[in-house]
Amino acid sequence: MIPESTKRPVGNSLFVAALILFALPFAYYAVARGMMLNDPGEQALSRLFHGGAALSNTAVYGHMIAGGLITALAPLQLSRVLRQRAALLHRTLGYVLVSAAMFTSLGGLIYIVLQGTIGGPVMSIGFALYGILMLLACVQTVRYARLRHPLHRLWAERLVILALASLLYRVHYGVWEILTGGLGSRDDFSGPFDVIQVFAFYLPYLALHGWLWRRRESR
Ligand code: HEM
Repeated sequence: MIPESTKRPVGNSLFVAALILFALPFAYYAVARGMMLNDPGEQALSRLFHGGAALSNTAVYGHMIAGGLITALAPLQLSRVLRQRAALLHRTLGYVLVSAAMFTSLGGLIYIVLQGTIGGPVMSIGFALYGILMLLACVQTVRYARLRHPLHRLWAERLVILALASLLYRVHYGVWEILTGGLGSRDDFSGPFDVIQVFAFYLPYLALHGWLWRRRESR
């Protein structure tokens, strides 16, 4: 369970700070990369840039900027101190986060529909499901927050997991490369490791979170 269950505010604050520090380098990379849309070097070298395809280019580079923002900001919503002592800030940040997350997922989905992904249909399905779940988490988080319903927390935590999942995808590859030298991974993302990864960067974390949630509820 993401430690809201931590009764000690210091422990919770340290956890949030550690998550933000962990997320910042990738968040910075994503925002910086997204802002390179009009850079001639990026346009010449990137496989994500397609000449004459303004919509898919704007969608994919825009999703990187919005995605970088949510990667850095999402952990802040787990802060108990912020929620209890600065409720207005928590609420405002929540709306910013949900808007940016919707922008991120819609941008990614538009790109998938128009261009597909480097790994082909399986990767496209994995990433499309990721985007759809993020959209669902956005809608449910806001819906339950407005109803002041306890399920707000469940969906908000799911949204945070999904916001950090893109970073986890890269972390999985990094750790796998160190441990195995990239066994089962190919340049065109068609290896067995790649195929598993298109679902493994978010589904197991959501499942683990769901299990911890149910265990806590049953107590
Ligand atoms: C959570 C925040 C997200 C961040 C920070 C992020 C960041 C990025 C970045 C930086 C790239 C460029 C490739 C790279 O440099 O590694 C990328 C590619 C991509 N992202 Fe995201 N992304 C996020 C969420 C999403 C979501 C929710 C979707 C699904 C709708 C998505 C779909 C894609 C697709 C389809 C590509 C291109 C894959 C390919 O063919 O290479 N992303 N993303």
